[in-house]
Amino acid sequence: MSEAKRLAAEKAIEYVEKGMIVGVGTGSTVAYFIEALARIKDRIEGAVSSSEQSTALLKGHGIEVLDLNHTGGLSLYVDGADECDGNKNLIKGGGAALTREKIIAEASETFVCIVDPSKQVPVLGRFPLPVEVIPMARSLVARRILALTGGQPVWRDGVVTDNGNLILDVHNLSITDPVKLEQELNQIPGVVTVGLFARRPADVVIVGGQPPQVL
Ligand code: 5RP
Repeated sequence: MSEAKRLAAEKAIEYVEKGMIVGVGTGSTVAYFIEALARIKDRIEGAVSSSEQSTALLKGHGIEVLDLNHTGGLSLYVDGADECDGNKNLIKGGGAALTREKIIAEASETFVCIVDPSKQVPVLGRFPLPVEVIPMARSLVARRILALTGGQPVWRDGVVTDNGNLILDVHNLSITDPVKLEQELNQIPGVVTVGLFARRPADVVIVGGQPPQVL
């Protein structure tokens, strides 16, 4: 799958225009994108990063990392996903970076999602849905999620997000109305971010292959 990830990432470079500040996601697919971006770094103004992990990679390649508060809205955001349905709704957060990822997606005109073919699903939910929670609300949120969805929330033990919070991974969901579920879970006190990207889905999905498929 890593070759498919690389091919998707290389294709996404076509969306980068001269002078852009590029929103950059997190994960192994994005790591290929950062490598490709480094080759054209003199043509861009910099990047806004969605995680400490991506910040380290970007800086390691000599790409300037800028603060979203100073850049304002972005033209382009490139990120991976854990699952993608036919309407470009996504599950994200396998790398625990969902909150900053969702902020950058919201700030961006065009969200290009880069995936390998294994990420495509007819209905979201096979991949456990990550939910970032405030530490003191972990058990409360887990109980509410169980009651609301019937899914099984599992604490991702040992993981603390870049924002100092915890992750619950919700197993056994079949998400037929992702916008509704995203809204409902967002209402639970203590939930910081739900890893469903449906209210603001991807605009373009690139599925890595020979040739890459642009959806
Ligand atoms: C990180 C994410 C990633 O985009 C997602 O986990 C996919 O990762 P990879 O490209 O390594 O398969 O949402 O929070």
